[in-house]
This record gives sequence, C-alpha cells and structure tokens, in this order.
Amino acid sequence: MTLKKENILIVDDDVNILELIQRHLYDLNYHSYKAISVKEAIQILKDTEIDLLITDLKMPEVDGFQLIKYVSEHFPALPKLVVTGYPSLHDAVDVMKSGAVDYLVKPFTKEELKEAVAKSFSQKLTKTTHNKVLNKTDKQSYGELIGSSKELKKVTEIIDRVKNNKATVFIQGESGTGKELVARAIHYMGKFARAPFIAVNCAAIPETLLESELFGYVKGAFTGADTNRNGFFQAANTGTIFLDEIGNASLAVQARLLRVLQEKEITKIGAQNATKLDIRVITATNSNLLELIQKKIFREDLYYRLTVVQIEVPPLRNRISDIPLLVDKFLFKYGLEYKDQFIKISIDALNILKRHHWQGNIRELENVVQQAIILADSNTIEVKDLPEYLKFKINFNETSFASLKEYEKKYILKVLEATGNNKSKAAEILQIDRKTLRQKIQ
Ligand SMILES: Nc1ncnc2c1ncn2[C@@H]1O[C@H](COP(=O)(O)OP(=O)(O)OP(=O)(O)O)[C@@H](O)[C@H]1O
Ligand SMILES: [Mg+2]
Repeated sequence: MTLKKENILIVDDDVNILELIQRHLYDLNYHSYKAISVKEAIQILKDTEIDLLITDLKMPEVDGFQLIKYVSEHFPALPKLVVTGYPSLHDAVDVMKSGAVDYLVKPFTKEELKEAVAKSFSQKLTKTTHNKVLNKTDKQSYGELIGSSKELKKVTEIIDRVKNNKATVFIQGESGTGKELVARAIHYMGKFARAPFIAVNCAAIPETLLESELFGYVKGAFTGADTNRNGFFQAANTGTIFLDEIGNASLAVQARLLRVLQEKEITKIGAQNATKLDIRVITATNSNLLELIQKKIFREDLYYRLTVVQIEVPPLRNRISDIPLLVDKFLFKYGLEYKDQFIKISIDALNILKRHHWQGNIRELENVVQQAIILADSNTIEVKDLPEYLKFKINFNETSFASLKEYEKKYILKVLEATGNNKSKAAEILQIDRKTLRQKIQ
C-alpha cells in the first residue's frame, strides 16, 4: 500500500492525542504532520502544502478557534476538522461560525476518524488534483513585499518585467523603504531563483578590501595574497549580485565594475585573463548619485550602465494605505515571537501610526510595532503603548506671516498645551534640553 497524496496537519497540546491520531492516520495511509501549538502549526502551514487541518480547540496561549480563524482567512480552501473533549452546544455553534467543517468528539475510534477525514476531504472547495491552498494575502503582497497601494503596484510591475531576464537594475529609495527586499524579490520570484543571490553592502566593507572582496585575486597579486581567491562576483555567477550602498564604491571599484558590465567578463586582481560572467547586477542607494557625479566621486558612464532599469521605492508616507497591512504582518510575526499570541491594535493607535511621517520608513514602523508589543500589557496595543514622539500633532492654521521668534514662542506654547504642561515631554518633542526650555519659557 502506498501513502495517499494528501498531507494532514494535526494540532493538539496533548502529545498522546497527537501520537494516537498520527498512528490512526498512518494505518489509513495518510501522511501527517504534528504540531503541539498553534505557533508551530502556522509555521508548518507556511512551509508545507497541507490538505486537511485536524485541530483541538482548548489549548493554552493561542487556542484552536483562533487557528481556525487564521486558516479560514489565509487558506480558505483548506478543510478543517475539529477534535475536542468538550462537546458543549456553545462550542459547536462557535466552531460552525468560525468555519470548521466537521467535528469529532474525544474519545473516538479509528473508524470514526476515518469517516470524519473522508467527509472533510469530500467537502473540499477545490476539486483540482493538486490542491494548492489559496493564500488570501497573495493580492496584498508580492513575495515578501507587503502592500496593495498603487505606489507599490508600480514597483511590483517592474519586478515582473525584469525578474526573468538579467537586465541591470538600479533601486533608489529612502532608508528603510525595502530596497533590499525588492532586490530579493527580483531574484527569488523569477526563473533564476535557484541560482545564487549574493548581497554585498559596499558601505560595510573597508574601501581597501572592497575591490579584492568583489572581484577576487590571484596568488601574489599583492602582499598577503597567498592563494587564488574568488570574489563575490564569481560566487554569484549565473545568479544575482546585489551591491547595496553603491555610492560608497571607490573609483577603482567603479572602474572594474564598469568593465564587468561592458564586457560581461571579470578579471581577478593580478590576473592576465578574464573569465566570462553570466550575472545580473542590482545596485541600490539612498543617496543622490547625480550629486556624487557632480562632485566627481561617481562615474557618470557607470551611472548610465547601472540604471538600465530604475526602480523608485516610494517612502511609506506616500503609501499610507499599506500601513494597516504592514502593521498586521508585524503584529502577527512579533506577537507570536514575543508573546505566543495574536496581538491586535486599537483603532486609535492605528490612526496614530497612519498619520506619522515615518522618516525611517518601514524599518521604523517595524521597530515601533515590535516595541509596542513588548510594552503592551494586554493582547491589544493601545495608544499608551506607542512611543511618545508619535502621539503629538500640532495644527498650525495661521495664515499671516510672523517672525521666527514669534513662531517659536507660539510653537513652544502649543507643544506645552498638547503635553498638558509636561516640560519633560515638551523638551523631548522639541529636542532641546529642559534647561533650554525653561529659559525660553522665561
Ligand atoms: N513591502 C514590505 N513588506 C514587508 N516588509 C517590508 C517591506 N518593505 C520593507 N520591509 C521590511 O522593512 C525593513 C527594511 O527593509 P530593507 O532592509 O529592504 O530596506 P532598505 O531600503 O534596504 O533600507 P536601507 O536603505 O536602510 O538599507 C526590513 O525588515 C524589511 O523586511
Ligand atoms: Mg538596505
């Protein structure tokens, strides 16, 4: 007898039940995965194609109801079978409402399990032979990139155009906007995904080493070069090299890079012969290369080689509509990581996040959510859990012009008013020390 093609995931906090169900299923020729908590179950759901979920309801920390809700949202085609020791009517109604298809009361026989499993499979929504689960977040994300705004769509449309060719791509955007994630998406969403992806932060490697690290060297090329060595370019061959902070590359590195792009071949430092390269080059920067060109620290001819395809990653403040989706992702990720729970956020707190300016973009948002989860004393993030600097918004509706001094006075008074005359908070917002604030008040 060979195993049936379906994969079943069993979730229960009781290892004996897990073992028992798995043994029964094995006897029925089903392959199954076991998870002792909802957290583990979700990890398996993400990594594996599951065709049926069998779950307990009462579990410590995150319970089965929440798992069913999660699965209904993210894998709507996945059938669910509830196994419980508490067959109260109240529970049954809740289970039906939450979208479970069938219900098995402990203790049960192998025969009863067999029937319930068969029934669940027969009620499956999709009838395709290969039941790939529908992922609801598909429309709201592109690989790892979360968002459904038209600004992000523009980015993903370009990714779609370039992911299957090896055109040189240049990614520009403020710090923390997701440039590296875009580079990874180009590589991993396309047909070269199995080839290497090598990310090099040009700002993190000392200038004197960058050239040899990138291009490799032959023995004797310089003092200390006692073997032949490959660089990042050779390592990334057939795949993608991602050169982050390209504005930091020295003129020597730029000259070599230009040759690589022109000739599609590479010469190790000290070598006579070049070797052919088949590589996609992606570069990124948050600085303005045109300014660096004017200052003569970046080669103009290289700039034009690098910018065959340009992607502008928009700052978060220009795609506010993505904020709730991103917050959701971070709540989910860090909630399970730090608190073993699904953490929520109040409307008021979310509104504060939506109106902030986000100088540090998604990285800053991620940090704020992370901190708030740690600080929150319930499973919902409230306004009080957010850092102070996010909370104050001062409206300036004056239309007449006034001197800087007058405005400074007015502004300080407004900040004091907004903070309820709390001088420490006001000083923090104004980014001056308390002593200076006191002097100004006088
Ligand atoms: N669209 C997105 N969806 C989900 N997470 C994102 C998205 N964009 C960025 N992030 C997350 O935000 C953080 C910053 O992203 P990334 O490192 O790609 O930014 P960057 O533009 O390269 O920043 P820097 O200029 O500082 O190097 C990462 O943790 C990343 O996972
Ligand atoms: Mg980066």
